[in-house]
Amino acid sequence: MKTSVMSQEELFLDSAQTGQSNVRESRSRSRLGLIVTGVVGGSLVALYAVAAPFVAPALRKICLPFVPATTAQVENVLKVLRARSGTLVDIGSGDGRIVIAAARHGFQASGFELNPWLVWYSRYKAWREGVHHSTSFHISDLWKVSFAQYSNVVIFGVPQMMDQLELKLAKELPSTAKVVACRFPFPTWVPEHTAGEGIDTVWVYDAKAFKSQLQQVVTRKTMSAPEDTTDSQT
Ligand SMILES: C[S@@+](CC[C@H](N)C(=O)[O-])C[C@H]1O[C@@H](n2cnc3c(N)ncnc32)[C@H](O)[C@@H]1O
Repeated sequence: MKTSVMSQEELFLDSAQTGQSNVRESRSRSRLGLIVTGVVGGSLVALYAVAAPFVAPALRKICLPFVPATTAQVENVLKVLRARSGTLVDIGSGDGRIVIAAARHGFQASGFELNPWLVWYSRYKAWREGVHHSTSFHISDLWKVSFAQYSNVVIFGVPQMMDQLELKLAKELPSTAKVVACRFPFPTWVPEHTAGEGIDTVWVYDAKAFKSQLQQVVTRKTMSAPEDTTDSQT
């Protein structure tokens, strides 16, 4: 009789121990599940945060992706601006290579760039190369800032944006400014000269010329606009 009570106790203890170890196992499994979910979720969020600014340009009305200037392109920009000094801006400055190269040649150079990762990288590179005092990088949309304070402007754009940018720069820049277009020229401005060939070609434009061209267009439009006949009809 005693033997049977003992065995029942043993049975009870045994099942209690099994139950506890099952609970422990399931707790450690759910902890592992949480860790895996956290790691996968965190990695996806990090991947999205890094990739989104690079993919976003493709979804905008004008798609201007990050395509860095070639070494020859940078050299051509510096060559056509060798007699110039003062302020310089690279519109859509990417990883900052044109701004940094210009700063090394004595310009007070700035970059405007939509992608924050590229701006942070550019600042780091400028610091590493010892030109952080003569460079500045801004996380900005090129269509929302004025370039009026710059006497040298560089743009490596896409053909779809050049007519709009022509108008913006002709309105904003002082007549002493020079504009350098890389790979794609402006559609109506007449370049002063060009340098390089193929994809490394750069075109130089003088602000005095394109501002007076804009003035002529405005004058012509004003002259040819039909007179307001409101008064004569009443
Ligand atoms: C063709 S890359 C030129 C990069 C750099 N200027 C170079 O020559 O190496 C154009 C750059 O413009 C940036 N961008 C695109 N849309 C922009 C916008 N609305 N405002 C400012 N930057 C923009 C892109 O992220 C990209 O880095």
